[in-house]
Amino acid sequence: MAEQTLTNLTREEQRFEPPADLAEHANVKEEAYARANADRAAFWAEAAERLDWGREWDQVLDWSNPPFAKWFVGGTLNASVNCVDRHVAAGNGGRVALHWVGEPDADTRSITYAQLKAEVSRAANALTALGVRKGDRVAIYMPMIPEAVVAMLACARLGAPHTVVFGGFSADALASRIIDCGARVVITADGGYRRGAPSALKPAVDEAVEKTGEMVRNVVVVRRTGQDVAWYPTEEGGRDVWWHDVVDGASADHTPEMHDSEHPLYVMYTSGTTGKPKGILHTTGGYLVGTSFTHWEVFDLKPQTDVYWCTADVGWVTGHSYMVYGPLANGATQVMYEGTPEKGRWWKIVQDYRVTILYTAPTAIRTFMKQGREIPDGFDLSSLRLLGSVGEPINPAAYVWYHEVIGGSRCPIVDTWWQTETGQIMISHLPGVTAGKPGSAMKALPGVVVDVVDDDARPVAQGNSGYLVLREPWPAMLRTLWGDDERFKETYWSRWEGLYFAGDGAKLDEDGDLWLLGRVDDVMNVSGHRLSTAEIESALVSHPAVAEAAVVGAADPTTGQAVCAFVILRDRATPAEGGVGGADLGEELRRHVAKEIGPIAKPRQVMVVPELPKTRSGKILRRLLKDVAEHREVGDVTTLADSTVMDLIKSASPSSKEE
Ligand code: WT7
Repeated sequence: MAEQTLTNLTREEQRFEPPADLAEHANVKEEAYARANADRAAFWAEAAERLDWGREWDQVLDWSNPPFAKWFVGGTLNASVNCVDRHVAAGNGGRVALHWVGEPDADTRSITYAQLKAEVSRAANALTALGVRKGDRVAIYMPMIPEAVVAMLACARLGAPHTVVFGGFSADALASRIIDCGARVVITADGGYRRGAPSALKPAVDEAVEKTGEMVRNVVVVRRTGQDVAWYPTEEGGRDVWWHDVVDGASADHTPEMHDSEHPLYVMYTSGTTGKPKGILHTTGGYLVGTSFTHWEVFDLKPQTDVYWCTADVGWVTGHSYMVYGPLANGATQVMYEGTPEKGRWWKIVQDYRVTILYTAPTAIRTFMKQGREIPDGFDLSSLRLLGSVGEPINPAAYVWYHEVIGGSRCPIVDTWWQTETGQIMISHLPGVTAGKPGSAMKALPGVVVDVVDDDARPVAQGNSGYLVLREPWPAMLRTLWGDDERFKETYWSRWEGLYFAGDGAKLDEDGDLWLLGRVDDVMNVSGHRLSTAEIESALVSHPAVAEAAVVGAADPTTGQAVCAFVILRDRATPAEGGVGGADLGEELRRHVAKEIGPIAKPRQVMVVPELPKTRSGKILRRLLKDVAEHREVGDVTTLADSTVMDLIKSASPSSKEE
């Protein structure tokens, strides 16, 4: 697979030099690399000076007990004060923080920093009145509306770690996250607008809360769509309160407490190689330093003049680091859009709001390519000056299209590699320094130390590929997995002594630049979202008809990878005729996965097979299934316990359901 990706990626020879004007006025210039190399702690300390601290730190980094890092030890700060209050105090209260654009056309709101401060303060007072205290966990399950940002900042203000669950996840997925982090309050909305129609959220919360016993005290509900919802009033011993009832009347004055630099800021669940999602813990000081500095550095943000738009949903880490915490800490003006990439809508937003910086994912770019350039060509995109990409490698064809059609051949593209775990961008172009090379994410940012190593942790020579590792701690790094220090050590730090293993393969080219080659573990990347094979397999086997399941991510022209499932049915479930597994069963299993995890995890394809390819020790050889799913010659089968199973699988797969 790695080789395949690489040949696809290396075809583009064009290089894109930084525009002279941008280079001249860039926030971060070439000298930063040497400065950071000479004294990394001093480099990050300088980055930290960009924030407001209650108490200055005593020590930049405590790495005496690896892999448990402490950054800005002894310092205190409040993330919400840094994202909101300080801009008002500096005289920028009239600056727009959020240009919110709802999915229904006429639905827009522009919110200044002063208004945001008042709203966050009200929400903090309302949560306090509901009994939320420092350290309590709050789950947030919301559409892309300003209240989602307000809710996060209000939690941060109180020191109540939030866990935002993507609104596309199912009730079961929400319940397991609420239970894992012990959330006392859930903030949600009646629904949100998706593809032109209201889509409910509250019923999933009701179902999830039922599964959590007595854990959840209150559900705070924003009225967004006005649709009917089941209601459990507090006066009758229930738990539901309307956001407008508790927040609108609350005081807009709230005196924030300064929290320890290492106080938990949030938990974000992400898929790993087992069925149970991992609760990535980010803390306050280092995270805010890492995200705000890199946002200013990589996007070359000029807060007085730029209009920044990150298209990620608030339910993913990109929404946390580069829509909420990084940009707001920098006093940016940004666009927040409720909907999905429909034809022309994004370009109308860029035109209407004079967006200067756009940060999105390759899968969206490929979708727009398919729709045709006539659509963006019909809008005035001349305000754009910088483009960003995240989530998966950007293939050269998409890169060049993005550069020419969206960027008018004048905007640099920053290809940013990072992870939920890293919290901040780690590898990227510096827009005023680095010439763009389509397909390569280029180099580690100043202050970040990455390497590509072989099985024995030896750095590979230029021109070779291996595993991507991080050699030194960085400010926004995850501190642990919520409630599971052992799994934290085991997952990221056990493969090689002293190295963080990211799970990605990478190649170092002849110039020493990095090419990301995708995951080397059992994790898929579908439309830039991380899905675990094990999680989907366990959802499949929870269906009564399924005896065993194996899931692979197969190459897909739009989504990068697509979920392909191979299932063995229980004896009694095998339909008598019409081939093994009819279309109906495939559809039913797809629906079942959507219910268990969420629509994003739905397999593109379910193939009913008589056997799965296993080694003698019982490990499923997914790479062979991937060969089948990608219609390739099946690779080396010598480690199979029974080498004939692949023939059985291949002969079974054509009768399967495909769409
Ligand atoms: C995985 C992390 C970081 C926010 C979005 C996804 C892949 C991410 C790139 C890129 C190549 C990339 C990696 C990584 N990835 N950005 N620019 N080039 N691959 O966050 O769900 O934590 O996934 O996404 O495989 O490990 P995530």
